[in-house]
Amino acid sequence: MKAKISKAVFPVAGMGSRFLPATKASPKEMMPIVDKPLIQYAVEEAVAAGITDLIFITGRNKRAIEDHFDKAYEVEAELSARGKHELLAAVQDIVPKTVNCIYIRQAEPLGLGHAVLCAQPVVNDEAFAVILADDLIDSEQPVVGQMTSVFEEQRCSVLGVEEVPREQTQQYGIVSSESLTRGVGRISAIVEKPSPESAPSNLAVVGRYVLTPRIFHHLQRVSAGAGGEIQLTDAIAALLAEEPVLAYRFRGTRYDCGSKLGYLQATIAFGRRHTEIGAAFEDYLKRLYS
Ligand code: UTP
Repeated sequence: MKAKISKAVFPVAGMGSRFLPATKASPKEMMPIVDKPLIQYAVEEAVAAGITDLIFITGRNKRAIEDHFDKAYEVEAELSARGKHELLAAVQDIVPKTVNCIYIRQAEPLGLGHAVLCAQPVVNDEAFAVILADDLIDSEQPVVGQMTSVFEEQRCSVLGVEEVPREQTQQYGIVSSESLTRGVGRISAIVEKPSPESAPSNLAVVGRYVLTPRIFHHLQRVSAGAGGEIQLTDAIAALLAEEPVLAYRFRGTRYDCGSKLGYLQATIAFGRRHTEIGAAFEDYLKRLYS
């Protein structure tokens, strides 16, 4: 197993049903926070962590994601002709030329675990990151970078976790772990969407993972779990029995942009400090609430 993580998987084949009708014909991951789609924030986070192979697991209605990371000759020619150099740079610099974008279709949305399994032919026997673009994390050091550093030290799987209110345990995979020293602790159990009464803790797994390739072995064997989907959590539970898996409490603020409330909160946070409109937006908010 290589010591450095160079591959990240972006599962983007989900239905996005919580955002219907916005997601009827276009992907949830293309929804913008101010002026950049969610998937671009996720890609920038991976690239900042030194990741060079971006593997998108796509499905129906996801063509816009592929188009977003391709060169757009007509748009570039038009902006250049009109002398709009800043906008031209913004569309040209979406991904560095040194990065490879790889697209794999998930023919049916059979669950997050199944989506990750679709990446196996490209990932092979390397450890890799998984990034869920709808968990947008605002942080000084990109969270995937924080986690690949933990992996490089410890050489085992690492799950990004945060404490959530007890009444929300049913929305997450929940772990029990030894107490976290410097944010890191070994996980002893993981369960998908437990009720608040049965949850082993309120430490929730959010959309950032570094996984060893052994996870594929377990993904091939788990059967459909909660909600009839192949759950990544079930495969991680099996992995735990044979390898250490760490919980890592990341430094940063997470916005659940798969939910309407989280999406609006992220829009306000990123809007307030946007270089172009931040000051005017802040001013507007002050007037609104004065
Ligand atoms: P979610 O649980 O957020 O599901 O999936 P969803 O379908 O996107 O959204 P809702 O709940 O219907 O509103 C978590 C992540 O896993 C991906 C999604 O794209 C999302 O990034 N996913 C989920 C897949 O790629 N394939 C699947 O079969 C299921």
